[in-house]
Amino acid sequence: TTVEWEAESYDMGGHDTYMHKEIHEQADAVDRALRGRIDDRFSTVHLGGLNLDARDARAVRRVKILGCGTSYHAGQIGAQMIEELARIPADAEPASEFRYRNPVVDPDTLYIAVSQSGETYDVLAAVQELKRKGARVLGLVNVVGSAIARETDGGIYVHAGPEVCVVSTKCFTNMVVSFGLLALHLGRTRDLSVADGKRIIEGLRKLPGQIEEILGNEAEIEKLAAEYADAKSMMFIGRVRGYPVAREASLKLKEVSYIHAEAYPASELKHGPLALIEPAMPTVAIVPDDELLEKNRAALEEIKARSGRILAVAHQEQEKADHTIVVPKNEDELDPILMGIPLQLFAYYTAKAMGRDIDKPRNLAKSVTVE
Ligand code: G6P
Repeated sequence: TTVEWEAESYDMGGHDTYMHKEIHEQADAVDRALRGRIDDRFSTVHLGGLNLDARDARAVRRVKILGCGTSYHAGQIGAQMIEELARIPADAEPASEFRYRNPVVDPDTLYIAVSQSGETYDVLAAVQELKRKGARVLGLVNVVGSAIARETDGGIYVHAGPEVCVVSTKCFTNMVVSFGLLALHLGRTRDLSVADGKRIIEGLRKLPGQIEEILGNEAEIEKLAAEYADAKSMMFIGRVRGYPVAREASLKLKEVSYIHAEAYPASELKHGPLALIEPAMPTVAIVPDDELLEKNRAALEEIKARSGRILAVAHQEQEKADHTIVVPKNEDELDPILMGIPLQLFAYYTAKAMGRDIDKPRNLAKSVTVE
């Protein structure tokens, strides 16, 4: 019931785990996802297997993204990118939930199934159900020729390469980059300007170098992980673009370290979770330098006022935080691609300090091909 890569056939290349290796492969992986797809002449991208012509693209009224686990989180960021760049209402939902609630299937909605393996049962079953009801379904998949890739009407391969570690890192990043490409493509068939198209393309091209820059900070992140590894529980917060980043970072920490972690929109803190804040419950805050910066700073103040420890991931040092991991700034819409990467290392080093089985966390499988 589990599909596994033939791990033996992939060399660890000097890394102690596949997770560490795969985190370090991200600049190359992103480069691969971009290769051959950018069209500078028309400030757009070409996605060969999409099977969606300009007329089809303009007819889309809504986008619904379905996935599980990390792929669902990638879908949440993807939905925001599609709304921002193409101005099409979009949202993501766990494929399992969607499948069981007898969903209204609408011909003007573009459905996108996201999956690393392309074999996750809940996602595949959702695709089959949608096809039965006559919907148009695209796949955003890593494994070429997998079941979801075969059953969808077209799609995008994310080209992350083989991912062996049970928890997803480089594939998540490539999924989000692929959503960026799709959002740009949909945007340019609609109202996104040439100037904005150029701006996003330039941002995409900067990603591999910026990823290298983040990974160059590894020693600092290792130290921070040691400082927080005593926490029984951690809170992850973000707002709008930062919220799915917080959710994925919290999932990553749970999966590999078994530390309890919760993710909340920063704006929801005051509606409940603030009651949990005390020195023993540190908060990881995603603080991009965008139009919500001041709002995010206010949340940090609220936490500080309750003696909460704060680790910020931000584009500049945050005064209210105990520690800030500074990441390079990209275009606002693309910032979520980079902001989670230091937190992959944070989860990895926390788990390592605790002696966890990083590549094969207890109770989890790389691919869940049963209901
Ligand atoms: C399993 C894995 C997760 C993964 C999810 C979806 O639960 O442990 O890491 O995100 O399946 O997998 P998929 O192959 O569909 O992306």
